[in-house]
Amino acid sequence: MDIAKQTKFGSSARPFLKWAGGKTQLLYEFNKRLPEELTKGKITKYVEPFIGGGAVFFYLNEKFSFEKCYICDANEELTLCYRVIKHSVKELISELKTLESAYLSKNDEQRTSFYYEVRDAFNQKLPTIDFKNYSSEWVSRAARIIFFNRTCFNGLFRVNQKGEFNVPFGKYKNPAILNESNLEDVATVLKTTEILAGDFTRCREFVDHTTFVYFDPPYRPLNRSSFFTSYSKNGFYDKDQVRLKELFKDLDGVGAKIMLSNSDPKNENPDDSFFDDLYSDYYIERVPAKRMINSNGAGRGNINELIITNYLGKKT
Ligand SMILES: C[S@@+](CC[C@H](N)C(=O)[O-])C[C@H]1O[C@@H](n2cnc3c(N)ncnc32)[C@H](O)[C@@H]1O
Repeated sequence: MDIAKQTKFGSSARPFLKWAGGKTQLLYEFNKRLPEELTKGKITKYVEPFIGGGAVFFYLNEKFSFEKCYICDANEELTLCYRVIKHSVKELISELKTLESAYLSKNDEQRTSFYYEVRDAFNQKLPTIDFKNYSSEWVSRAARIIFFNRTCFNGLFRVNQKGEFNVPFGKYKNPAILNESNLEDVATVLKTTEILAGDFTRCREFVDHTTFVYFDPPYRPLNRSSFFTSYSKNGFYDKDQVRLKELFKDLDGVGAKIMLSNSDPKNENPDDSFFDDLYSDYYIERVPAKRMINSNGAGRGNINELIITNYLGKKT
């Protein structure tokens, strides 16, 4: 598909959080493999059950106009942020302004202690947060998550077993903590978006033959030492990859167009055909990607990413 020929629908919203497994670097490859029904206007709904930072969601909303989008994630702190931006963007911006000026007015040493004070208070509040019912308290929580994302080491969100945010301070010279216009653009896209918290299967009921679904589940660990599932307290295991394949098949049955990406286990072990076997009924491609999942930089380099669809190379 020719990018230049696509109509621009205007949203310039971009991910507001840096997120592990973010897909910005793969947008070019995804763009070449979008279903042609998207450009023909036959797809009116977009569903992304593992939204993370939303690189693909924001990209598609720039290129296409959907009547309705549904996004979901098991990480409740993340879905809280999306909900706050949707419902209280002005209050969020004002909270971030306060945090930003307090932070920038300090010297390096004071910034470090400020960061840890904010982090401790954030973690102490955790048991009192009701993630199910929207509350004005969520605004300051979302502001802090964005603040941590700009000021913590490597700019990632990671929690311990208790669900406490545990990333150390990042020592950036001039972090851009508040991007007001982007948050407003994100709020605009979210107006027509339903935000679901919890397991990816929650999206099932919203998918029909007019829907494009993009699945970006947590990576299957390349090896035991790179086991990286700490987006949330719960891991994502092979049994979950199998559950996901069942949903893929189910949605294929209702006529949805589906794209799924994952890291290729063959990067580490050429004999590991886990996904080739699991998705043998569908179209599997391998595209080059850069691996950047280890916070210490070890294990970076070129690897393949899998892109699996139910509409390309269709067997007739
Ligand atoms: C690879 S990341 C998605 C990254 C996203 N595509 C981006 O560009 O930022 C996978 C996401 O799945 C979420 N997740 C983990 N287990 C899940 C589950 N059972 N159901 C839904 N989301 C889950 C994680 O919290 C994480 O945000």
